[in-house]
Amino acid sequence: MEKHPIVLGVTGASGLIYAVRTVKYLLAANYSIELIASKAAYYVWKAEENVKMPADPDKQAQFWRSRSGVETSGTLHCHPAGDVGANIASGSFRTLGMVIIPCSMSTVAKLAAGLSSDLLERAADVQIKEGRKLVVVPRETPLSLIHLRNLTAIAEAGVRVVPAIPAWYHRPQTIEDLVDFVVARTLDQLDIDCVPLRRWNPQEGSDRSPLM
Ligand SMILES: Cc1cc2nc3c(=O)[nH]c(=O)nc-3n(C[C@H](O)[C@H](O)[C@H](O)COP(=O)(O)O)c2cc1C
Repeated sequence: MEKHPIVLGVTGASGLIYAVRTVKYLLAANYSIELIASKAAYYVWKAEENVKMPADPDKQAQFWRSRSGVETSGTLHCHPAGDVGANIASGSFRTLGMVIIPCSMSTVAKLAAGLSSDLLERAADVQIKEGRKLVVVPRETPLSLIHLRNLTAIAEAGVRVVPAIPAWYHRPQTIEDLVDFVVARTLDQLDIDCVPLRRWNPQEGSDRSPLM
């Protein structure tokens, strides 16, 4: 039986590499992705990678594939953020859930307020109202009291909040290792295990105790 797609929101928070690695692992594992990048995400692509993300949906899908290095497996549809009439704007379109990675504080605030001013926000609002899984990966520091209150509000509504905070106990060697830890913990929330992550092993942990 064909799997329902995963909705992937990419906002204008720093850390587009988190989105690229998420696309990579989901496509490599043959998942279907419905992707929406916010308008601000275009600015961040320019700032972080000095590249122009194409606005045309087909060209943008090719862009994400080429950045993620997965040219053939899985399916990927990109949607313009203004297209509030797209399939994913409706609760009748079945999904496995949605991930917003990286997620800006602006989008967190809009979710907390129930605003649906573009397709990304509407698709996220739909997951909440339908009782589906919505996983948000906020990236901001420091967090203001307003940010914390908005994160609390969405957590109270059932949203899984997975901050873009890597760990070191899996002995990361590269930036990608640090990023992949966050991506793996994010996809864990959807019961998807497709990131080759070296998970915590108490045996290994005790072997390298500073007391030994
Ligand atoms: C280079 C760059 C980096 C940014 N990084 C962050 C960030 O890490 N977290 C955040 O909340 N906003 C960040 N912003 C600000 C957001 O892009 C801005 O609030 C925008 O309105 C968010 O819109 P969106 O949520 O629709 O993508 C950044 C902006 C730029 C240009």
